[in-house]
Amino acid sequence: SSTPSRVLVTGGAGFIGANFVHQLVTDRPDTTVTVLDALTYAGNSASLTPIADRIRFVHGDIADAELVDDLVRTADAVVHFAAESHNDNSLADPWPFVQTNIVGTYTLLEAVRRHDVRYHHVSTDEVYGDLELDDPQRFTEHTPYNPSSPYSSSKAGSDLLVRAWVRSFGVRATISNCSNNYGPYQHVEKFIPRQITNVIDGVRPRLYGEGRNVRDWIHVDDHNRAVRTIVEQGRIGQTYLIGADGELDNRTVVGYILEAFGRDADDFDHVTDRPGHDLRYAIDPTLLREELGWQPQYRDFRDGLAQTVQWYRDNESWWRPSKAATERAYTAQGERVR
Ligand code: NAD
Ligand code: DAU
Repeated sequence: SSTPSRVLVTGGAGFIGANFVHQLVTDRPDTTVTVLDALTYAGNSASLTPIADRIRFVHGDIADAELVDDLVRTADAVVHFAAESHNDNSLADPWPFVQTNIVGTYTLLEAVRRHDVRYHHVSTDEVYGDLELDDPQRFTEHTPYNPSSPYSSSKAGSDLLVRAWVRSFGVRATISNCSNNYGPYQHVEKFIPRQITNVIDGVRPRLYGEGRNVRDWIHVDDHNRAVRTIVEQGRIGQTYLIGADGELDNRTVVGYILEAFGRDADDFDHVTDRPGHDLRYAIDPTLLREELGWQPQYRDFRDGLAQTVQWYRDNESWWRPSKAATERAYTAQGERVR
């Protein structure tokens, strides 16, 4: 096992990447951290303000080969979070997903190959497609890829590039596929922060379709502790699935959010369903737990959710600037109360 001393974090101004950088500079203050982020609509430099003097921030694109080469050359490890990450956006306009998730990942892989730099690829459980509600099986490292959306297929494509660069060129890479994250600094387009901020604004939460779809929730800090464990101790070429036994249907999650505000659990609206909406995701994290000894620290989803609700109540100045535009985009994409 080894702890890299100079780490390049792509997408460090996004939700999971920003939380990763906070955790890294807190737990490993000797690490030199460089963040590369294009500050798309999803990136927010304010997420790094509390630690701005402890990192180097580079505003740029992961598909910019010259810039990437320069940054990778002086790193011991690259942890790659940058992506277009939202399924609904990928249905409205898939091109940025192909460009950033596939061409961007290719650009990073070529740079780590040239400079023989350790690479960790952050990916999603959505590459495996979806499960029936009553399927006793969960996703494992051996589940065949079967992505449904332009987002998940672009992530699947990027994972396959990594596997090929390991096998063909000996790149020192690991991959992790994680389930749905929640926690501070998540963009208000995503399910949990969207509903929390709707309730704050006096708007009823919006459930796609019947709300029976199941997601396997994990706190972002548990995801990031797993990523750091894999970077330090993971086997080169190995894929690790990250999940915290957090399966819940969307209706239940909305009920918990409403209860956190003292409102009725059924005080929500049903809206237009997402086309091709994946039914259920579920992770079997046995390999990660048994081989690397990782365990989630957030055991009770409602505690983690209550903390997250409090964070959005305390940090309105962080999310307010993107709320109205996000809601307008959903309306423009055809979302209607049913
Ligand atoms: P996010 O959308 O909140 O953040 C993405 C970040 O990447 C933003 O800061 C954005 O500015 C940056 N970015 C986008 N395109 C870029 C480009 N071309 N060059 C440089 N920077 C660029 O996403 P997130 O939810 O934090 O997800 C991070 C990673 O984790 C993604 O790879 C995603 O697929 C994966 N993942 C997310 C979840 C989840 O539940 N959110 C679960 C599993 C895996
Ligand atoms: O599984 C990991 C994935 O989780 C990540 O790879 C993605 O980057 C991340 O966005 C997330 O994808 P989902 O599509 O599962 O997340 P989202 O927050 O968009 O939606 C979660 C569930 O809630 C999904 O079943 C759709 C539903 N939903 C979403 C929104 C925004 C609603 O019912 N209402 C909503 O307003």
